[in-house]
This record gives sequence, C-alpha cells and structure tokens, in this order.
Amino acid sequence: MKKSLLITITIAALAFSLSSKANSQGEAMYEVLGCLSCHGQAGRSNDENYPSLAGKDVEWIVQQLENFQSGERYDEYMNAMARMAEGFERSIAEYLSIQNPKN
Ligand code: HEC
Repeated sequence: MKKSLLITITIAALAFSLSSKANSQGEAMYEVLGCLSCHGQAGRSNDENYPSLAGKDVEWIVQQLENFQSGERYDEYMNAMARMAEGFERSIAEYLSIQNPKN
C-alpha cells in the first residue's frame, strides 16, 4: 500500500475517533475502511451474503485476514479489503470480538 494512502487513512481514523462515538482504533478502522458497509454495525450482519463478525475469536479473525491477504483464502472483496486493513488486523479483531453477536 502507498504510504501516503496509509497516512491519509490513519489521519481519517484519528479524526473519526476524536470526533465521534468511536472509542477504539479497531472500531474507527472498521468504520473508516468500510467493513461496516458489508459486515454491519458492530459486526452484526443482517445480509446472509456477508458473515457476521461480532463475538468471533480474535486469533481466528486475524488469521482469516492474513489468509485473505496472502491469497490462501479467496474472495474478490476480501482479498482487497484485508490488504487495506494491514497493520490494523489485531485492533479490528479485538474490537469485533467483544461485540455482542445478538442484535
Ligand atoms: C464489499 C463487501 C465487504 C467488505 C467491504 C468487507 N468484507 Fe469481509 N467479507 C465479505 C464477504 C463476502 C466474506 C465471505 C467470504 C467467503 O465466503 O469466503 C467476508 C469475510 C470476512 C471474514 C471471514 C468471516 C468468515 O465467517 O469466514 C472476515 C474476518 C472479514 N470479512 C473481515 C473484514 C474486515 C475487517 C473488513 C474491513 C477491512 C471487511 N471484511 C470488509 C465482504 C466484505
């Protein structure tokens, strides 16, 4: 990823976390990177095409993101999205793991 893009995203995440309800880096990145648009608010998806992530194990989420990054696991969206999340895998996973899976 281009450094300038990474810096832009980091600044956006920072601004977002300072100015809104986001209270962790993981939450800010989940929202700024647009994970939310498919996987739902707080990782609770209500679209069967997109798996829910709320309450999943931290290590498992990190592993899935790494598998999408390396291409070991294929999905046209996730291979791109997981690369955007580089450096934030764990903070996003920690945020998702503590969300209540039930609406
Ligand atoms: C354009 C829609 C879209 C966006 C945006 C998106 N995802 Fe996904 N994600 C998917 C789909 C579809 C799958 C299921 C892929 C499959 O069937 O293998 C998935 C799977 C996953 C999985 C594995 C879940 C499982 O049950 O196997 C994780 C973890 C994940 N996404 C995290 C993220 C994160 C973190 C972001 C933001 C950086 C993100 N996703 C953004 C569509 C999306």
